[in-house]
Amino acid sequence: MKYDKLDSFDKNFLWGSASAAYQVEGAFDKDGKGKSVWDIYSKIEGTTFKGTNGDVAVDHYNRYKEDVALMKELGLKAYRFSISWARIFPKGKGEINKKGLEFYSNLIDELIKNNIEPIVTIYHWDLPQALMDEYGGWESRSIIEDFNNYCITLFKEFKGRVKYWVTLNEQNIFINFGYGIGMHPPGVKDLKRMYEANHIANLANAKAICSFREIIKDGMIGPSFAYSPSYYNSPNPEDVLAGENAEDMNSGWWLDVYCNGRYPKLTWKYLERKELTPKIEKGDFELLKLGKPDFIGLNYYQTTTFEENSLDSNITEGNFNNSGKKGSSKDSGIPGVYKTIKNSFLETTDWDWTIDPEGLRIALRRLTSKYNLPILITENGLGAFDKIEDSNKIHDEYRIDYLKAHVKACKEAITDGVELLGYCTWSFTDLLSWLNGYQKRYGFVYVDRDENEGGTLNRYKKDSFYWYKNVIETNGEDI
Ligand code: BG6
Repeated sequence: MKYDKLDSFDKNFLWGSASAAYQVEGAFDKDGKGKSVWDIYSKIEGTTFKGTNGDVAVDHYNRYKEDVALMKELGLKAYRFSISWARIFPKGKGEINKKGLEFYSNLIDELIKNNIEPIVTIYHWDLPQALMDEYGGWESRSIIEDFNNYCITLFKEFKGRVKYWVTLNEQNIFINFGYGIGMHPPGVKDLKRMYEANHIANLANAKAICSFREIIKDGMIGPSFAYSPSYYNSPNPEDVLAGENAEDMNSGWWLDVYCNGRYPKLTWKYLERKELTPKIEKGDFELLKLGKPDFIGLNYYQTTTFEENSLDSNITEGNFNNSGKKGSSKDSGIPGVYKTIKNSFLETTDWDWTIDPEGLRIALRRLTSKYNLPILITENGLGAFDKIEDSNKIHDEYRIDYLKAHVKACKEAITDGVELLGYCTWSFTDLLSWLNGYQKRYGFVYVDRDENEGGTLNRYKKDSFYWYKNVIETNGEDI
């Protein structure tokens, strides 16, 4: 649909920005924090870009006041951050580390004092290593209870101060990368184990939402999902089928469970034939049905285009570009299901991610049509090489162009009828990318930090900082 005039953003629209504990905090062993799986995994040779790890990250743990002051200066209405489970429960369960709770309590107070709405992500991938050692983390049903207790602790502690909660960040990514392609901890490549762990994570998500309903009456909760809408490479029905396979398998497989408490029929049948479906126990579907979220958290970066892949095709595992060398990624696929293909209509970033603002509108519209829930954009942003110039200026007009087009897509989607609660950019300050080091920068605030763990950690405002400030001041009228 094309319009002469677009609707306005709601006056309470949450103009925000986001981060995750492991990527910003540092202080990995300070004040009683336990080790997380990332603290261990990142130290194994060859797992991360140039061996980077989050021991110091961008030192947000020690500089959170300075960071919140910058948020205030920008005029942020919301800040999404995650809590490190191992800071609260060093062993994943049992005794609470008071110092850990205190850090987040202080951060929340600091945000509220500055009129910034805290949006808390409960789990952004940094599982306590103790739970991995004890029972294999997400592969054991024991985690459901431990995750629930951790959630209940947070709900009780921050009730009345935190209204918006994200349960699991990108379950589709941490499960796929952790157990399918072996690039995140625990570095496993086993589809059977992947689907089992995923089912357990679904149950943990649902149970946490049920506990939330009992403790917090005036809040909203939902998981954040990395949604990359599937496109068809051509009107050839074979390609259309491939695109539909991808949508069902890569998105419906998670979102149908979150929103409707059931797995999509077609993917279920396909996995059943491969003997890959997870073990279902009595009461599982009842619990999943009870765990319906209040909103869908949408992490949107790009769309993916698919075409037909024959049964005997050798296109399977692709290749990721974690170096920033444009064009170094390779297409992937599942024989007989789909394969990815470059979309000639779209530009890409240096890390080969498609740049597709229209895709954000498509994502918002599809989610609304299919699930009819409010949506909170919990991540959207551009990873790029930034250059700091004389007098500490960073002219990131490419980031402004990117964000501008995506904010416009939000406005169009609202005009289409999407109920959009807010828009959090990824990220507020520059931070450590899990697999791409520090050189892939996303922030409004440049942090002097590099792959050799060097840099002053000083903060500098980029041009995009001032651009977003104006967007917020005008409530999205002047983008
Ligand atoms: C999302 C994650 O997948 O994308 C973030 O929730 C992550 O933690 C972001 O940093 C960008 O990905 P990358 O790989 O460029 O850091």
